[in-house]
Amino acid sequence: MWVMRQAGRILPEYRALRASLSGFKELVETPDLAAEVTVQPVDILGVDAAIIFSDILVIPDAMGLPYEMIKGKGPYFPEVVKGKADIDKLNLVEGEELTYVYDAIKETVKRLNGRVPVIGFAGAPFTILCYMIEGQGSKTFSNARKWLHAYPKESHMLLEKITASTINYLKLQIEAGVSLYQVFDSWAGVLSEDLYREFCMPYLNRISEEVNEVPNIIFAKGAHFAIDDLMSSSFNAVGLDWSLKPEKIRGMNPSKVLQGNLDPTLLYAADEVVVQKTNEMLSSFSGGGHIANLGHGVYPDTDWRKVKLFIDTIKSSKN
Ligand code: CP3
Repeated sequence: MWVMRQAGRILPEYRALRASLSGFKELVETPDLAAEVTVQPVDILGVDAAIIFSDILVIPDAMGLPYEMIKGKGPYFPEVVKGKADIDKLNLVEGEELTYVYDAIKETVKRLNGRVPVIGFAGAPFTILCYMIEGQGSKTFSNARKWLHAYPKESHMLLEKITASTINYLKLQIEAGVSLYQVFDSWAGVLSEDLYREFCMPYLNRISEEVNEVPNIIFAKGAHFAIDDLMSSSFNAVGLDWSLKPEKIRGMNPSKVLQGNLDPTLLYAADEVVVQKTNEMLSSFSGGGHIANLGHGVYPDTDWRKVKLFIDTIKSSKN
């Protein structure tokens, strides 16, 4: 069991360190510090795996579109992709560009000394395209979606370039010591079944087929319309958000491990409700492999003790 966004603002120890720094990027780009906050949830919360402290946005950054993290607002890209010329200018990530991530992984592996495995990750090509075109968060990502329809050829070119960079990046994470990896398709939910089949699945399957040295997880938030495709994909495990019922999905392909899926807002409920709902969640996944997790990242103002209660309930369960 682990928790998406376990390393970060829920922990007072993270906030204290973060407050002493110039910004988020300094933390991500300083391997010793990134390793420190990666290990914090293992020590404090007792999770079974550490996820490397970084961000999916290091890929656009290394490809030539730097991001800024704006307090209270989130990511912002001063430059965005506006057409084919901009795609041609983007770098292919091949080697040393993201050395700070590989160094953070090596340092984390060293500090953990075999206690728990380290999870690597990357954003899915479509989710990265969203940021490269939109330049910031959005409820609808309508500019990115418009692109798929207005410039399908260029969209595929961009997705190709992101995919090739992501494959190289994940392979280097594995060389540095990660034991499994998760691909986050955080904005999958803005698409449709047909668009997902055309602009996402081929690239996701390529990543999982080419980066097959360790087990992998696909988490496509909100992509209920693509669940058949995801369950027949080449990923070992499929992450579910809270909108899906594991009992209904297990039957689609019993060989897939399922991950998830408690609604992170349940961690604002009273303790006894957290325990009850966590146990219900565990039984809903019975009958096959399960990685216990939330259905998306933990929200930053969640009381870390509720997260600990969620974890302790899972660890003491007989399921
Ligand atoms: O514990 C972990 O999960 C490891 C670290 C991690 C971060 N970002 C740290 C972070 C991971 C796995 C991510 C992935 C990520 N980043 C995703 C995919 C996961 C998801 O939530 O769907 C996405 C979409 C991003 C892009 C991003 N980074 C956004 C939208 C934001 C701002 C919103 C927010 O949650 O604050 C970030 C910033 C970010 N990434 C923070 C952290 C701890 C907060 C920055 C801070 O501490 O100031």
